[in-house]
Amino acid sequence: MRDATPEQTPETVHLADYAPVPVTVTHLDVSFQLDPKATRVSSRLTCKRQGPGEMVLNGEGLKTLSVTLDGVPLDADRHTLGDRTLTLHGAPDEFLLETVVEIAPADNKALSGLYMSNGMYCTQCEAEGFRRITWMLDRPDVMATYDVAIDSDLPVLLSNGNERAAGVWHDPWPKPTYLFALVAGDLVATSDSFTTMEGKDVALNVWVRPGDEDRTAYALDALKRSMAWDEEVYGRAYDLSVFNIVAVDDFNMGAMENKGLNVFNSRYVLASPETATDADYANIERIVAHEYFHNWTGNRITCRDWFQLCLKEGLTVFRDEQFSQDQRGYAVQRIGDVMNLRARQFREDAGPLAHPVRPESFVEINNFYTATVYEKGAEVIGMLRTLIGAEAWDQGIALYFERHDGEACTIEDWLAVFEEAAERDLTQFKLWYSQAGTPRVRVTEHFSDGLYRIDLAQSVPPTPGQPDKQPMVIPLAFGLLDREGNESRPTEVRELTTAGDSLTFDLAEKPVLSILRGFSAPVILEFDRPDADRLTLLAHDTDAFCRWEAGRVLAKDRLMRAISEDAEFDAGWLDAVATLAQDDNAEPAFRALALALPSEDDLAQSLHEAGIVPDPERIHLTRRAAQMAVAERLANALPDLRAANATPGAYSPAAEDAGKRALSAGLLKLQTMRDGGAAARRVYDTADNMTDRMAAFACLLDVGDPDVAAQFEADWSHDRLVMDKWFMAQVAHATPVDAVGVAERLTKRADFDPSNPNRFRAVIGGLTAGNPAGFHRADGSGYAFVTDWLLRLDPSNPQTAARMSTAFDSWRRYDADRQALVREQLDRMAAADPSRDLAEMVARMRAA
Ligand code: PHE
Ligand code: ZN
Repeated sequence: MRDATPEQTPETVHLADYAPVPVTVTHLDVSFQLDPKATRVSSRLTCKRQGPGEMVLNGEGLKTLSVTLDGVPLDADRHTLGDRTLTLHGAPDEFLLETVVEIAPADNKALSGLYMSNGMYCTQCEAEGFRRITWMLDRPDVMATYDVAIDSDLPVLLSNGNERAAGVWHDPWPKPTYLFALVAGDLVATSDSFTTMEGKDVALNVWVRPGDEDRTAYALDALKRSMAWDEEVYGRAYDLSVFNIVAVDDFNMGAMENKGLNVFNSRYVLASPETATDADYANIERIVAHEYFHNWTGNRITCRDWFQLCLKEGLTVFRDEQFSQDQRGYAVQRIGDVMNLRARQFREDAGPLAHPVRPESFVEINNFYTATVYEKGAEVIGMLRTLIGAEAWDQGIALYFERHDGEACTIEDWLAVFEEAAERDLTQFKLWYSQAGTPRVRVTEHFSDGLYRIDLAQSVPPTPGQPDKQPMVIPLAFGLLDREGNESRPTEVRELTTAGDSLTFDLAEKPVLSILRGFSAPVILEFDRPDADRLTLLAHDTDAFCRWEAGRVLAKDRLMRAISEDAEFDAGWLDAVATLAQDDNAEPAFRALALALPSEDDLAQSLHEAGIVPDPERIHLTRRAAQMAVAERLANALPDLRAANATPGAYSPAAEDAGKRALSAGLLKLQTMRDGGAAARRVYDTADNMTDRMAAFACLLDVGDPDVAAQFEADWSHDRLVMDKWFMAQVAHATPVDAVGVAERLTKRADFDPSNPNRFRAVIGGLTAGNPAGFHRADGSGYAFVTDWLLRLDPSNPQTAARMSTAFDSWRRYDADRQALVREQLDRMAAADPSRDLAEMVARMRAA
């Protein structure tokens, strides 16, 4: 039995131990003779000494056939060939190192390195996958140019850079190993072209399996819009003559920004109105943009070491969020991004897996592709821009591109350009990178004798390894409204830099404070205030985020009191919800967001923070009762409201129609609570697009319609992406009592292939994330079922097993019986000799 905390594990890597390599590699010549069971990889590395020390190359699972230095086979005393390292003793200052290895891509189910998916070869090298292909310095501060030759009978042979001959590629841009890619298969392209602002013609291709080519148009369109946007907003142009995107069915993550050859999980490429929902379209647009934007923020300027991951990821998420705001409208996009941040990052920050935006140690780097590094990393950049202002931001980022192009950088390099541009010391701001945990800001108001005072107090909770925290610099955007709801003071930003501070204003009457406008900092606001103020904000605030937030706080307050004290849902709140739902002056997408109640997980966390032990079943039932109360309040208005938000004519994925469909879906859910599914059945039978069909499908599952699952399957069993939705929806919409049984039954089907991460996530994630009351059943059956599947997946795909294990990270919220049941499963995983990936996650969660 392995029982190690991260601190005790010998393989822990520390930021403080960073040292540059003594010998670097400036160029790679690699040739591949592809074969499923015995692919031969011959590589020649151009090596150059930079300092004293031995060269240690990385390799994993390689069958090494030969090693030569400057053409001469290496004697035993000049090298040591270990399990995962190849050490050269006394290498000269400049030399060529040649190795020949053999690997078996068909046996690679980890989906890291070179593997096969439906007969196609593809690679995934971030973070440390290249070492599973050949011997190399597999770390991001070693940047080399590449020549790649692919020998195979397959018709399409792709790698990074520009193509010189069939299957022969040259990448002139020095890059780290993690950006290497190779794809070979029977693929078809949808093609287009783009002329850059520098006048360069770029061929664009989206490669898919034959039969999928009618679903590529939207990804290609999103790519062209991304290219134009990065030129317009950041002055960044593309730098090769071809940009390839490939869709692959078996992929651990969303997509990968390999230089000139982005590889995508097919669910984030393929879309048609009949098969993809509005949410799918929005994700495709965002992820295509994200990977494209990496060409500058990640590829041209990369990370010195993996501790700096947020340097590329936080910045690139920030950029893709800006892009989506421009494409789809600021307010709704921002609210959606905040909801996502709170659901995933705040949860992470509140539990045993909390870590800083820039972690200081890790066992397995793949465990740190987290909401904290990505989404909180993006929020930190947004705060930086708010604090220094748009002008200094523009100057600083221009300086960053100019100064660091072609380099592998750190957060210190990043902050230095802004210190220069803004002439501001960012020492305190840097705490956002090193202190984990979500800061809390307590707000109290005082009014007397014409003086209005706001007292602010901040605190950062303890997190693993960080018991005490220093005060952060927190930008607080705020404005004031008068009692009638007119804005009396427009938005301004004040900085809270100490544990406590006050703002004062001379005013004739007490105003209504609108604070944390636009969610100006990733903090939790603690602000006890009269309902009347919240209702004023909900009806009138000019800041869409604060307007939505007022409604959210009201709803959460009602739900929490109903859960803990059996309180009734009062007419005042229901009237406010109904008014907003019917307010034709507000965008439909905004109204849809305002109508949605806080999630069960959100409520569980909030109850826990209020000192109440959450009961998942009770949360589930109370939330449904609240939905019923809203449905009753809107009652007869529902059919007309839905009709008013119909989207007749051909389906368009654009934001305006998508917003109407989102509102209609929310209304249909309410109507289903009253009519037992009659309206949903009509929508299901007549829908001409997957968005409406899925909305109706979910409603029909909620009311236990006996036929709809079989009908859906009969229509779509041939389509793997649509069937993922079918698998997931059935688990997510099962009653809590049935959920584990439904999930278990689905895993017994022939088309449940656990080695496909999308399918695995559909069923297991459908339970853990989609059906919290089912997952947390008091008998522990959900915990045992999920653990069984994690342990089955772990030997072949540790990355996805480790990632899915985060379902257990909230276990300390619950009652003693549930905690004992979870601990039993965590112990079981620890005792099962898990992968390094899963072992690290379990150790961190058990330590809580
Ligand atoms: N770098 C990828 C992205 O952010 C994510 C990724 C990480 C993909 C590791 C695969 C493996 O877009
Ligand atoms: Zn990224």
